[in-house]
Formats: sequence, C-alpha cells, structure tokens
Amino acid sequence: MDDNTHIVTPDEGQLARILEGTVHEWAGGLDFPRYAQVQRAVLGSPESAGRFRFRALVDERRQVLCSLKAYRLAALWGGRAIPALGIGAVYTPPALRGRGFASALVRAVLDEERQGGARAALLFSDIGAAFYRRLGFARVPTSVVDVPVGALPEAPGARDIGFAELDQAAQVLAARPVGDAFAVARTVPTVRLLVARLSRTIEAHGVPTGPVGALAPRGAALWVGFPGRGLTLLDLYAEDDASRAALLARARAAAERLQCAKVSAWTVAGAAPFEGTRTRKTAVAMIAGIGADGPRRALLTGLDHF
Ligand SMILES: CC(C)(COP(=O)(O)OP(=O)(O)OC[C@H]1O[C@@H](n2cnc3c(N)ncnc32)[C@H](O)[C@@H]1OP(=O)(O)O)[C@@H](O)C(=O)NCCC(=O)NCCS
Repeated sequence: MDDNTHIVTPDEGQLARILEGTVHEWAGGLDFPRYAQVQRAVLGSPESAGRFRFRALVDERRQVLCSLKAYRLAALWGGRAIPALGIGAVYTPPALRGRGFASALVRAVLDEERQGGARAALLFSDIGAAFYRRLGFARVPTSVVDVPVGALPEAPGARDIGFAELDQAAQVLAARPVGDAFAVARTVPTVRLLVARLSRTIEAHGVPTGPVGALAPRGAALWVGFPGRGLTLLDLYAEDDASRAALLARARAAAERLQCAKVSAWTVAGAAPFEGTRTRKTAVAMIAGIGADGPRRALLTGLDHF
C-alpha cells in the first residue's frame, strides 16, 4: 500500500461520495435519496452500533480511494464461538480501478480485525472467486433452491413473528448443531442486524413490513419478502418434521399475501429446507481464516449477503 494512504471510518462528506458511487451498483431499484437514506438509517441504527461500519482507504487529501462495509459477527467454528468479520460492498470509483486499492483495503481490514481478535472472514462475491482467492478466501459451494408457493405445505402449528420477537427466534436458531463446520452464529444481535437491514430496504420501496418469520414448538424461520417478486427464507431450523412443515406453511402464507409466486432459500448443498429447483446465483460465498489457522468447511444456512 502507498505510504500516503491510510484507513479511516468515513466522515459525513466521505460517506456521501461513497454512496454516490455505490448507488450505481447496489441500489436495488431505489433512487439515490432513498438509497442513501436506507444506508444512513442502517448505519445509525441501534442494531449496527459496534457491529457495522464502513472502512475506507484514503489518500493524503482524504479522497476516498476504495471503501467497504465491515460487519463484526459472531461465528461458530470447531464447536466454539469465535469473532468473525463479514465484508461487503467493496467499491473503488471507476477512475481509480486497477491500481491495487481494493486489494490493499481488504488486506488492511483483515489485518486490523485479526488484531481485534477475529479468526475468520466471510463475504459474498459479485465478481467471481479469483480476486478474493488471491486475498486468502476460499469458495464455499452454495446454491439457491426455488419452490413454487403452492408446493409448500399448509400445516398448522406455527405462528408469525414480528421484529419484537426476533430474540426468541434467534435463540431457537442458535440451538442448531453445526458440528465442526464454520457457521455464522445466530446470536440475538446478529439476527437483529440481518433482519433490520433487509426490512429497512424493503420499507424504502414503500412496502409495510409484515411478519419477519415464524416460531413453531421446535423450530424457527426468518424471511424477507418482496411483493410480486419472491420470498426468501433467511434461515429455517426445525428439530422435527411437524415443526418444519408448520414453519414452511407460515412462509407460504406470507408469500401468498405478498403475491409472490416462489419461495427461495440459499444454502450449502444438501442443507436446503425444502426440495426445489436449484438455480444459479451470481454471488459466490467465500471464507478466509485470518487467525493462525482457518476454517476449512462452512455451513451457511441462510442468506447473510452483506
Ligand atoms: C472490484 C473492485 C472493487 C476492484 O477494485 P480495484 O481497486 O480496481 O481492485 P484492485 O486494483 O486491487 O484489483 C483489480 C483486480 O480486481 C479484479 N476485478 C475487478 N473487477 C472485476 C470483475 N468485474 N470481475 C472479476 N474480477 C474483477 C481483477 O482481477 C482486477 O485485476 P486486473 O485489473 O488486472 O484485471 C472494483 O472494480 C469495483 O468497485 N467494482 C464495482 C463494484 C463491485 O463489483 N465490487 C465487488 C463486490 S464483491
């Protein structure tokens, strides 16, 4: 990295420049004011405090050369809880690309998080695997499974939950056995951050937030639905078939209310909560060990796309 560059948490002016650039990549159909409003709301939310921030590589004039989102996550690995880093939205303005700024920033953030105790990093690449492989990340094979809404069960026994009941769902999801694999831990703060971030984005499209998941006697599910498009299961864990069917029935009901034709889940192969059609997904899940040793196997049970 150039001696004249350093890493900062962007100030208001730098954040404005970052949002003006990234709106062209990740606005998801929102216009600039709404996109910026969602980003600022998430950044300033109680769920994000101490857990989510932007980091930026700046030059001597404090011009932003590259930026990314850094999430402090809890993860499980080898049966133990470890601090982990989630990376998203790596962005270099077009005129500054190809000079090593993104590589330098990712390396620097991995370094600072390692010093802060993180042992692993996780990201979802929109640009294939090669760039992040050079930075020490390995691909985790994942797939998206789609099912038509009508193919899901209509079993009773589960109830919808809103944001206020997320803690109960997190406790159920946290009980999932993951063996010695690497997995994002479903701690209450991690689940709150995931759901709050996605719900705010949906709300910015003018859609009122309905239930964000369901609880069954022995299971829980979380989802995010986009009217007319699809409902995505963020996570589902059930200890028995009856609970699983009841949870899927609530997801079905939510999808029908939103007039979604399909329900999707994004998982590692073999761990999908239902049988369906496997579809290609551009985002590539990748993990890296950033401590002395790194995880070799990951169990990604839901959509944590940052
Ligand atoms: C990807 C990005 C952050 C790279 O920034 P950068 O500062 O130019 O990165 P570096 O100079 O460290 O590395 C450049 C390398 O990134 C890789 N790369 C950049 N864009 C890529 C793309 N669309 N697909 C695959 N690899 C890509 C290439 O290997 C490139 O090397 P090359 O210039 O020799 O071809 C930048 O191109 C960008 O902001 N793109 C738009 C947003 C985006 O897609 N971000 C990634 C989200 S996962």
